[in-house]
Amino acid sequence: MSALFQPLKLRDVTIAHRVWMPPMCQYSAEPVGPSAGVPGDWHFAHYGARATGGTALIVVEATAVSPEGRISPQDLGLWNDTQAEAFRRITGFLRAHGTVPAVQLAHAGRKASTDRPWKGGAPVGTDAHGWQPLAPSALPFDERHPVPTELTAGQIQETVGQFADAARRALAAGFEIVEIHGAHGYLIHEFLSPHSNHRTDGYGGSYENRTRFALEVVDAVREVWPEDKPLFFRVSATDWLDEGGWTPDETVRFARDLQAHGVDLLDVSTGGNAAGVRIPTGPGYQVPFAARVKAETSLPVAAVGLITDVEQAEKILANGEADAVLLGRELLRDPSWAQRAARELDGGARVPDQYGWAV
Ligand SMILES: Cc1cc2nc3c(=O)[nH]c(=O)nc-3n(C[C@H](O)[C@H](O)[C@H](O)COP(=O)(O)O)c2cc1C
Repeated sequence: MSALFQPLKLRDVTIAHRVWMPPMCQYSAEPVGPSAGVPGDWHFAHYGARATGGTALIVVEATAVSPEGRISPQDLGLWNDTQAEAFRRITGFLRAHGTVPAVQLAHAGRKASTDRPWKGGAPVGTDAHGWQPLAPSALPFDERHPVPTELTAGQIQETVGQFADAARRALAAGFEIVEIHGAHGYLIHEFLSPHSNHRTDGYGGSYENRTRFALEVVDAVREVWPEDKPLFFRVSATDWLDEGGWTPDETVRFARDLQAHGVDLLDVSTGGNAAGVRIPTGPGYQVPFAARVKAETSLPVAAVGLITDVEQAEKILANGEADAVLLGRELLRDPSWAQRAARELDGGARVPDQYGWAV
């Protein structure tokens, strides 16, 4: 029996197997006007293809809780009801194909207002639909980025409320799981790490203070997100800094806190908050961070990062290193990866009737 093709039940949601798609920005929404942040044909075709390809769970890309929370002006959003309504077409299609629709709620913090990667990814100003970024401290990400505006205590509370409002809209949009984006150097991660958080109030300094904003967001989302639906959290398990950064030890402690606050699964990534660090990438290079959280806590985890091979993915599950694998770029290359893996492992990934001839 393949470990990869076992179902997983979290709260009242059953996920058909363990091949999942992580959030990947498409930078393909309108930047301004009534359609700003609204998913369109590209998003429907893109997510639809991975659903008909047999992916058990799709986490829709970083979706901003406010206009200033976008990474690029072309990001998706859930800060208004037009956006929520437009997502229903995607979530309905995913569900019809046995794929659990999840959405990653995000605020980009000091890394907001940048150009699309294929246009160079540089910070953009108001002349290109950009804005002044917000952050826990007035510390730029690197020399290319502007100095962000330090959030006031009132703005922090406002942002917590924006996450809750976006979660309420995610429910109306038909999503079954919400993932809070606490990784990759975006706003929540910026609060977690002493590298980017130099605050001297109740949101900076000690571990308890640095995690306060993240846990307030979790509490606010959990309050509006139904009891029977799972809540995920994506963390960067390390800043890859020798000193002065967020650490794997803190991640383990934080995993326990998140679970106590109602999080059901930790999606374990790394990096993104410190410019210029060397990251030793290679096949499955982030799996040990997920495995450590799994070994030292009772919180389910998903592993991500250069997982591309069927045998490799099966081993991660069979060895008990993670409860699911997320395949990012590999699913961009091959939307039907789950069906291919199922053929190799004799597992079950859903194939639409229309494609049954090709099994
Ligand atoms: C085009 C692209 C967009 C991405 N956007 C997001 C995102 O919106 N949120 C996020 O947490 N990670 C994002 N990531 C990171 C992926 O979720 C994943 O963690 C990373 O690509 C490593 O997995 P892989 O080696 O399987 O691609 C993105 C990656 C790519 C390639």
